[in-house]
Amino acid sequence: MNPIFAGLPVSVFEVMSALAREHDAVNLGQGFPDDPGPEDVRRKAAEAVVDGWNQYPPMPGIPELRRAIAAHYRHWQGLEFDPDAEIMVTSGATEALAGALLALIEPGDEVVLFQPLYDAYLPLVLRAGAVPRFVRLEPPHWRFDEALLARAFSPKTKVVLFNNPLNPSGTVFGAEDLALLAGFCQRFDAIAVCDEVWEHVIFDGRRHLPLIDVPGMRERTVKIGSAGKIFSLTGWKVGFVCAAPPILRVLAKAHQFITFTTPPNLQAAVAYGLGKADAYFHGMRRDFERSRDRFVGGLRALGFPVLDAQGTYFVNVDLAPLGLNEDDESFCRRLVAEHRVAAIPVSAFYAADPIRSVVRFCFAKRDQTLDAALDRLGGALKRAA
Ligand SMILES: Cc1ncc(COP(=O)(O)O)c(C=O)c1O
Repeated sequence: MNPIFAGLPVSVFEVMSALAREHDAVNLGQGFPDDPGPEDVRRKAAEAVVDGWNQYPPMPGIPELRRAIAAHYRHWQGLEFDPDAEIMVTSGATEALAGALLALIEPGDEVVLFQPLYDAYLPLVLRAGAVPRFVRLEPPHWRFDEALLARAFSPKTKVVLFNNPLNPSGTVFGAEDLALLAGFCQRFDAIAVCDEVWEHVIFDGRRHLPLIDVPGMRERTVKIGSAGKIFSLTGWKVGFVCAAPPILRVLAKAHQFITFTTPPNLQAAVAYGLGKADAYFHGMRRDFERSRDRFVGGLRALGFPVLDAQGTYFVNVDLAPLGLNEDDESFCRRLVAEHRVAAIPVSAFYAADPIRSVVRFCFAKRDQTLDAALDRLGGALKRAA
């Protein structure tokens, strides 16, 4: 068996979900919304199953969806993509990431990764034969600088895998961060694989800035999106990849032999959804922002030191200033067992040298769920202090 996968321990996500079930806890560990997603988009999918095409769709995705993705990114991010040569539909962002890494990396290449990192990245990078080089981000700002990048990039760097907005920290990187990273990509002739699945889930009037739009990056960036996050339909696993033709051609070869296609009915519904009026997207952001504010207000009232939550479904608390006698994982285990609320220790998102004081909660839940969690969290800090 391959030791990279055989050697992977049971993830903390599985452990926390099992403990949440065992203790009948409010589960704020898992990152999916309570909301069922927009009804019109779900109806389109149902109609497409009943009345539409259910055989293999074209390998790069149905033309309506590729055109809808191009129009969507032109409208929202000012980007121009040729739907026939620069856009491909995949089975979730995860397939897009796996395909991009398999297609771009040769054994021995180096890949720059930012910690905290999404759990799929490292096994995929290692399985593709690359050597990971980590940039370690820290609370409260989770930002990188010239010195951190200089330590990670080398002449062997082939790819930098960049998640913006960043899960788990909820950081939205701005123009200065992107310009710095773009400079390193160009200096070291590296390709940026940009996981932008959270591009629409950003708050307080922020704008998502895609790295592919930074001067010099158009020909060396792979932009990855996910309908699952745009429409709060995380189970759909419809992803998109946008890249210049010489890159996309190679990524398409990987996609051809991983999944080949993605369910055509879901593609049709996503094509419809991407064309929805701006009000839908602003409303979605407002709703999540309201949940964030409700939960953050409650946490602060209980004395939790809450970090800035600029995007994603997550908010983090940094336990360090409280001087508790436990790390993030022990805290989460105690929280689920004694207070019946499940959260995720952020150390799980580090492959090396973890930050051990930060805990992630998902706030994309109904008011009653958030209020129930806050009720239960009442004694959590008092008893530990
Ligand atoms: C950073 C990041 N990338 C990728 C994914 C997975 O996207 P998909 O469900 O489209 O594969 C997630 C899901 O939480 C995520 O947070």
